[in-house]
Amino acid sequence: MTAGEKGFLVTIIKTRNLTKKFGDLVAVDDVNLEIEEGECFGLLGPNGAGKTSLIRMITAVSPLTSGDIWMLDGDLRSHSQQVKAVLGVVPQLDNLDPDLTVFQNLMTFARYFDIPKREAHRRSMEVLRLFQLEDRCNSRIRELSGGMRRRLLVARGLINLPRILVLDEPTIGLDPQAKYLVWHKLVELKSQGVTRLLCTQNMEEATTLCDRVAVMHQGKIMSLGTAADLISRYVGNKIWEIELNSEEKGKIVNELENRGLDFEIVGDKVHIFHLESGESLNGLVDSPEKLRRRSATLEDVFFRLTGRSLAE
Ligand SMILES: Nc1ncnc2c1ncn2[C@@H]1O[C@H](COP(=O)(O)OP(=O)(O)OP(=O)(O)O)[C@@H](O)[C@H]1O
Ligand SMILES: [Mg+2]
Repeated sequence: MTAGEKGFLVTIIKTRNLTKKFGDLVAVDDVNLEIEEGECFGLLGPNGAGKTSLIRMITAVSPLTSGDIWMLDGDLRSHSQQVKAVLGVVPQLDNLDPDLTVFQNLMTFARYFDIPKREAHRRSMEVLRLFQLEDRCNSRIRELSGGMRRRLLVARGLINLPRILVLDEPTIGLDPQAKYLVWHKLVELKSQGVTRLLCTQNMEEATTLCDRVAVMHQGKIMSLGTAADLISRYVGNKIWEIELNSEEKGKIVNELENRGLDFEIVGDKVHIFHLESGESLNGLVDSPEKLRRRSATLEDVFFRLTGRSLAE
């Protein structure tokens, strides 16, 4: 089987029953995904969900335990060299060479792709400028701040002008300005038709950049769709929040159950889902300040599906 056409979209990455075990631990459990050429596909999930394990298999860094991966138009195992040539990878953990300078790191990396020296020099300077690292060109890696290293990792992932870019939490630890530089580049790559697989804990990042997102939990894909789809499916577009105090808590929860409402307790609040008007909440609380209506976000979906908040 080859990754073929679906409507006018072309599947560029496809996994079937993809599984990764570490001893008895199933880190990735029977995952079936299809990623379309040119889209930005977001992978969300709490710590330990299996995101990095999945990404490492897709980028041919870590062997599969079972299942299959098709990339471009064939089995990854049989043409991993061709895939690697068009793949950009920004790993979660910094694997820059600490003994080399910023510039040398990029030039060394460019050699893996057989990029001619002049062109490698030109591209290195371009990505350094893009992520505002040109004045750090001759610094050793150990002299860089954490955010500078991460910017360099992203810059390095672009050196071979990849057709598929896989980024594992690329903006973690970046200041807002640096984060926007990365976001801006990811949007620009869309116009060049580059497929992006983005693993993130940042809800705004997922909502802003991703055409579709998958929520992963305990090795499995819990749900997949556009942010808007997932929001309307799991929580509804608006959420009502009630502040809970300990005396009222039992009474309010009982009452919500009696009224057949879809709700969840989140810390010292209760969230009520799929409720357009507040009519069914009449008489529930003694003062209107305890009741608030707000727009639902992907974070609400995340919490519903995994029982965890994105920041955890
Ligand atoms: N090399 C390894 N050996 C043993 N267990 C591993 C290894 N790598 C990952 N795991 C385990 O696999 C599970 C999934 O880890 P993974 O790093 O894929 O999660 P993640 O979703 O990327 O989490 P995070 O958000 O913290 O980066 C975890 O329970 C982890 O402890
Ligand atoms: Mg990870």
